Amino acid sequence: MPAITLTTLQSLKQKGEKITMLTCYDATFAQACNEAGVEVLLVGDSLGMVLQGHDSTLPVTTAEMAYHTACVKRGNSDALILADLPFMANATLEQTMTNCAMLMQAGAHMVKVEGALWLAESIRLLAERGVPVCAHMGLTPQAVNILGGYKVQGRNENQARQMRADAISLEQAGAAMLLLECVPSELAAEISQAVSIPVIGIGAGNATDGQVLVLHDMLGLSITGRVPKFVKNFMHGQDSIQSALKAYVSEVKATTFPGIEHGFSA
Ligand code: KIV
Repeated sequence: MPAITLTTLQSLKQKGEKITMLTCYDATFAQACNEAGVEVLLVGDSLGMVLQGHDSTLPVTTAEMAYHTACVKRGNSDALILADLPFMANATLEQTMTNCAMLMQAGAHMVKVEGALWLAESIRLLAERGVPVCAHMGLTPQAVNILGGYKVQGRNENQARQMRADAISLEQAGAAMLLLECVPSELAAEISQAVSIPVIGIGAGNATDGQVLVLHDMLGLSITGRVPKFVKNFMHGQDSIQSALKAYVSEVKATTFPGIEHGFSA
């Protein structure tokens, strides 16, 4: 497949073709995901939980994110690499610029930052300096201690109104993509319509412009045994990791994943 760029993702949204994204933390899986046709590899700070065994993403450092981004880059040929800015790496604007530079220099094509409207200034500065940004809204796992757990966000009308308004403001600030995690399906559909940038969902229904899952979750690997409602085990009925990855791509493209049972209501 030709190299995936922001322009490719934008045109997939315009054509109504779903975008496929999976987390990826190393070179071998980067190559496997390329072969399966996954368009975006997310070097997620979920690596703190699935690789390092922590009980949250908070212990992950920018140096660790840069290390895994570089590993993914070595195995990748044509997917777009999106790297997470970890907890507190954007505590100040100066730290944001320095830490995003580390991720881009390690091989990322875009960075993902968790938050809401307060991200607008840093998104504007990053975009001006050539760094495309994906804003991660809804359930933002780095804020688990403020949110009081891994809970669905935007369920009441005030929160929903705020999230819609923030999404539009972040697009205006220069965000190139949005990621909505654990948001009622209807609200995610409205936000996807309201902005012109691609919106990727996880636990956000099937009307977003694309989907992402944590690689280990969709391969049926869980260190805790707790499987979120929005996860589907794509190893079921498959005899190899490669065919599970291909099944994920084809179900996302066909809009058969996620099903209604993987989403949340208001
Ligand atoms: O870190 C991560 O894997 C993520 C996904 C849950 C979207 O941000």
